[in-house]
Amino acid sequence: MEYTNLLTEYNDGILVVTINRPKALNALNKQTLSDLRDLFEKDALRLEGLRGVVLTGAGEKAFVAGADITEFNGLDAQGGLHMAQNGHDIFFTIERFHVPVVAAVGGYALGGGCELAMACHIRVASDKAVFGQPEVNLGLIPGYGGTQRLVQYIGKGRALELLMTADMIDASKALDWGLATHVVPHGEEVEKATAILKKIAKKAPIAIAKTIAAVNACFDNEVDGFNQEVLLFAQTVKTDDFKEGATAFIEKRKADFKGK
Ligand code: CAA
Repeated sequence: MEYTNLLTEYNDGILVVTINRPKALNALNKQTLSDLRDLFEKDALRLEGLRGVVLTGAGEKAFVAGADITEFNGLDAQGGLHMAQNGHDIFFTIERFHVPVVAAVGGYALGGGCELAMACHIRVASDKAVFGQPEVNLGLIPGYGGTQRLVQYIGKGRALELLMTADMIDASKALDWGLATHVVPHGEEVEKATAILKKIAKKAPIAIAKTIAAVNACFDNEVDGFNQEVLLFAQTVKTDDFKEGATAFIEKRKADFKGK
């Protein structure tokens, strides 16, 4: 797996993906988005035994400081539509990914960077993490799902205030407001994210994939989330892993899930 702006490391079913543009605080330029699309739409699907992805940023200062502002020059309404739709498509692919994706946020997660972290299933922050949607400072609104997912995580009132003031929040406030689920000392965020994924990797893979799909259905206007849960529950009932899990419980032993 070779990319212009991503580094990858694959061990024991966990893929660590590092966005690698530290001089630009890992800003999401077109190439980086294209790399992320290739990774999540194609390359990661071919990895044998993949059980989770950690997404992080290179350098000491940033997860991702937003869309790359140097590429905004000459952007017109048509270009804006294309840019936002492209970001939405990639971020939905991440949100709907079949294995959990954990953002390990060790610095600025601003604009498109906060939106990328929010498209992940879980966010682990270091004590130097900073979250915000400062687009109004540029005369913009968020274009990669920020107006929707921020409301989902922190509620309408707090989201509207952050979106309109462009205020940034630190890791402890992000934890308090439910945007992050863990705060760890700076430098330990990838390790913590990996530990969470290793815990999840012990569970039945199909049940994990269906959990992600069922929770996403809660925020999908096209489907009834409760109906989706019924359908997805039935799909887990027909798996070998369900038989193994229930049998192992009765036999008082650890289940040996095969992902079938
Ligand atoms: N795009 C391009 N380059 C960026 C960038 C971005 N989003 N953020 C930082 N950089 C670059 C800076 O231009 C600078 O480059 P040079 O060294 O070549 O000058 C380098 O990264 C380091 O940044 P600073 O010197 O500014 O570092 P700082 O510590 O003084 O400030 C910061 C850090 C507060 C994050 C500041 O860089 C900043 O405000 N960045 C912009 C954040 C932002 O507005 N993000 C939203 C972008 S719009 C968006 O994302 C739209 C969307 O929803 C899709």
